[in-house]
Amino acid sequence: SGYTLGIDLGGTKIMTVVVSPEGRVAGEARLDTLAHEGPDAVIARLLQSAEQAVAQAGLRMADLEAIGVCAPGPLDVTTGVVLSPPNLPGWIDIPLRARLAQALGRPVYLDNDANAAALAEWRLGAGRGTRDMIYLTVSTGIGGGAIVDGRLQHGKMGAAAEFGHVILEPDGPRCNCGNRGCLEALASGTAIARAYAERAARRAAGGNEAFAAKTVTARDVFARQAEGDPLAAEVIASAVRYLAIGIANFVHIYNPERVVVGGGVASAGDALFTPLREQVRSYVFPHLRDSFTIEPAALGTHVGALGAALLGLAAG
Ligand code: BGC
Ligand code: NA
Ligand code: ZN
Repeated sequence: SGYTLGIDLGGTKIMTVVVSPEGRVAGEARLDTLAHEGPDAVIARLLQSAEQAVAQAGLRMADLEAIGVCAPGPLDVTTGVVLSPPNLPGWIDIPLRARLAQALGRPVYLDNDANAAALAEWRLGAGRGTRDMIYLTVSTGIGGGAIVDGRLQHGKMGAAAEFGHVILEPDGPRCNCGNRGCLEALASGTAIARAYAERAARRAAGGNEAFAAKTVTARDVFARQAEGDPLAAEVIASAVRYLAIGIANFVHIYNPERVVVGGGVASAGDALFTPLREQVRSYVFPHLRDSFTIEPAALGTHVGALGAALLGLAAG
């Protein structure tokens, strides 16, 4: 039939799409992950979302040509096992690919969520027409994917281009992965919100840090910066600087033609992209300055699921 199914398992949402042979979204489902309920309950919801999306497309499971699923790392693409992603607490060595394949009666392909998103942006979105592209998602965590010489890179287990866990400050804030000073701990949406809440609490005598940390989001911090809040401006400047250093490093590794940035933080628009472009330029080799552009992602919330569907099809 040429129809494919793609499922994006995120820490808070499950996004599922059925993709037509022409690349159109023919059906979709969006469910809360409710990760705290544990792997069995989440796997049941993955199956439920698949059924919903397939029904919405007017198809049956047996009509699908391929099924792909993506999830945050660490995971092993070769065995299809989700190892221990910090954003899916309680998931230790879950054989997700086998569990889904058994329940659906079909082969399933599993990959890293940012690898899938990178592939989708390259084939259908902001990276179209390039041969060398890197992708970063900046949201709860920071994920990455790299297209090199017209091919999505995986490495031995699928962990190539784990851009969020490049260490930029060995004595910096603790990352969910256990290390300190990872790019994710310095510049993700979570890191921006946490840095603002902590500094605000420290400044307000008698302030309640725990309360503040629960109520401020990265979106709020960008809004406060726009209103002239100097603390918000400081926190965002620090995050942008680390992102720029990270991206400049990745430019020196991959020599891309385009850098695509997605995820919730990228929806800040020019407040992020204007200083980011300027600083990345200042950190890279002079002869590379005009060799690439930095663009916002184009595919919105479907990006991971679309990529998973494409990967499922490619895996046969
Ligand atoms: C994980 C990545 C993932 C990213 C976005 C990071 O914490 O290590 O594998 O791509 O979050 O979900
Ligand atoms: Na990746
Ligand atoms: Zn880390």
